[in-house]
Amino acid sequence: MSIPQFTLNDGLKIPALALGTANSTGDEGYHAVLAALKAGYRHIDTASAYNSEEPVGRAIKDSGIPREEIFVTTKLWGDDHKNPEAALAKSLKTLGLDYVDLYLIHWPIPLTEEGKADPSEDLDFVKTWAKFQKLVGKGTKSIGVSNFDIVNLEKLLSAESTTVVPAVNQVELHPSLPQHKLVEFNKSKGIVLEAYSPLGSKNTQLLDNAELKKIADRYGVSVANILISWSIWRGVVVLPKSNKPERVEANFKVVKLKDEDGEEINQLYKKIGKKRYISPNWGATIFHDEEE
Ligand code: A2P
Repeated sequence: MSIPQFTLNDGLKIPALALGTANSTGDEGYHAVLAALKAGYRHIDTASAYNSEEPVGRAIKDSGIPREEIFVTTKLWGDDHKNPEAALAKSLKTLGLDYVDLYLIHWPIPLTEEGKADPSEDLDFVKTWAKFQKLVGKGTKSIGVSNFDIVNLEKLLSAESTTVVPAVNQVELHPSLPQHKLVEFNKSKGIVLEAYSPLGSKNTQLLDNAELKKIADRYGVSVANILISWSIWRGVVVLPKSNKPERVEANFKVVKLKDEDGEEINQLYKKIGKKRYISPNWGATIFHDEEE
């Protein structure tokens, strides 16, 4: 099956499969991104905190693919909540682009430069979002959030200053952390979810899971392909990472999962247990209600 596109709440189309570049720095990252674009990826996910904006921009330029055919996302880091406009300008400069397609608040927690939650009263994600709303059409086409749970989304959506519903919410999602309630909540608000660490993050056990292997064998694809296809089956944009060009290429394959297989993967956490891999310790609550 070809790679589907989803439509965001502002009308923008987004390719459902992207290369995640949290580990793709320097020349190694450049070659991974170039391999992705050659393999057919048209969506690259980066962030100012990844140190991958420069190699991403260089690979886009060298690929020869017209800019408008590639969907590029970057993110605002915690110590930039004061001035998203300046942070976006800096990201664009590093990327060598004049716009991104999507700009996200990377985490709901403003940080000091020392990397701790910033207690300043003039800083919180509601205020940051009010500034984000002014960036639409000025360096980014769409705006969204990342690592927002239901509690924080409700706070954001009910704030008086919020006039734009985030187009996406990018969160950790894989069979050990399927977050079914969050998926349902985002759908009900018209917010597209994006899955990071979809293969189970570093030292992943998921790729060796016997149940997933059985499903993969039935489709004649790898477990990674099944995990990627499961996200898309759920209506979730999926952002697998790899710095190995052969894996980047092999991951660019989506099969149409049968509902019964999707449902089986939905329930897998009951057997393998729940696990969140990415949860920084900044001295502030990020995730309020650890649910399934
Ligand atoms: P590597 O760069 O060594 O290929 P994610 O964080 O997206 O869940 O991915 C977890 C890790 O799985 C990636 O950092 C990547 O590391 C590795 N990986 C990606 N694709 C595959 C694959 N097809 N088979 C095995 N490992 C993979």
